[in-house]
Amino acid sequence: MKGLENGLSRREFLSNTSKASLAIGLAGTGILSACAGDANGEDKAVLVTSFTQTPLAYDYAALAPNIDAMTMEIHYTKHAASYAKSLGEAIADEKVDTNKPLEDVLAEVSKYTTKMRNNGGGHYNHELFWKVMAPNAGGKPTGDLAAAIDSSFGSFDEFVSQFDTAAKTRFGSGWAWLVVGADKKLAVGSTANQDNPLMDVSDFKGTPLLGLDVWEHAYYLNYQNKRPDYVSAFWNVVNWNTVAERFAAASV
Ligand SMILES: [Fe+2]
Repeated sequence: MKGLENGLSRREFLSNTSKASLAIGLAGTGILSACAGDANGEDKAVLVTSFTQTPLAYDYAALAPNIDAMTMEIHYTKHAASYAKSLGEAIADEKVDTNKPLEDVLAEVSKYTTKMRNNGGGHYNHELFWKVMAPNAGGKPTGDLAAAIDSSFGSFDEFVSQFDTAAKTRFGSGWAWLVVGADKKLAVGSTANQDNPLMDVSDFKGTPLLGLDVWEHAYYLNYQNKRPDYVSAFWNVVNWNTVAERFAAASV
């Protein structure tokens, strides 16, 4: 990795790469210029999702053995790509103004078709998922995010326990989430299918900071029916740097 050769830490490199990918992904959509006009535009930009797939910031094999290379490749190039393609069709069919963020569409997704709900959610959720993971990551958060987790859950271990329960008990396909609510408190929950906490149709609401895909396509090749093992392994690849950036942006 050239960034590392130039003296950047892996975390700094991935963070910069993530921002560069975001900028590339937003170029031509009008979203970047819209954000740049905000006083906190640079910070808020980490909460904005492009309508198209952004490149992975790491190789398909980079998260192994926690998530194997074939799962990552199929997940990114087939499943997630399909959501992005179908979202593109939906925004054209339903004449969505793509100068507005995808997040705005999700906030009023009840006004759109089921195709928009499933694929807008599917695209957003996966774009977030790739960013909140990184090689040689895991561990625990620090700073303001760590303090907020302690304040909201009592301890990091209690937060992990609640998140694990949400992920393991989500019946069928769905996602587990850490969100920050309008009251600035953190909360853990889950949603079905490709719904997410940004959606007006969701019972569980907030700004997603961390999301875990618990669809079988996310783990079945390596873990088969053992979803709890996959959930446990996820903690080894959580990119707390990105989660903390999202928390800081959402807390402005
Ligand atoms: Fe998925």
